[in-house]
Amino acid sequence: MKETISVLISKEDVEKRIGEMAAEIDAKYESVHLIGILKGSVFFLCELAERLTIPVTMDFISVSSYGDGTSSSGIVKFNKDLDDSIEGKNVIVVEDILDSGRTLSYVKSVLEGKGPANLSIITLLDKPERRVVPVELDMTGFVIPDEFVVGYGLDYAQKYRNLPYIGVLSLTEE
Ligand code: IMP
Ligand code: MG
Repeated sequence: MKETISVLISKEDVEKRIGEMAAEIDAKYESVHLIGILKGSVFFLCELAERLTIPVTMDFISVSSYGDGTSSSGIVKFNKDLDDSIEGKNVIVVEDILDSGRTLSYVKSVLEGKGPANLSIITLLDKPERRVVPVELDMTGFVIPDEFVVGYGLDYAQKYRNLPYIGVLSLTEE
């Protein structure tokens, strides 16, 4: 299959929006503990953290919903747990994209049991048309249509994470 990528959201627009999100977080909290979901959220988390002026700590978890292709199977597995306690902290879970909602609803239920002062969820992208499990988001970068996107941390079979923009991936017969 031939893989073609067309720009959906430019680097400029992504960066501008992340700046707005950081300003909102700055205004709301005195300090935050960011939890990134590996690997997709890394680019977003770094950009966001860079723009925050309040004290920031961070940790990462890794979960996988099976499959290397363009849709997830629904089974969520924890591959890497938190390094640090989140008890009493202002926790913000940072995710690249909310699709079916399975990953975030699972992660949220696990983290809620660990005693954070509060727990909010932010995602760079949201594909509401694809939702299977409801998830309440505290902040969203962009609501996008039901397309498979890559770049800015998002991958297709582990490729394209490093693209400096969000692009729609199309697969066509060669
Ligand atoms: P969910 O559990 O179905 O909400 O899936 C969330 C995860 O699926 C994300 O963290 C991504 O890793 C992956 N995913 C969902 N949609 C896309 C997409 O359009 N491009 C790349 N990865 C995606
Ligand atoms: Mg992910």
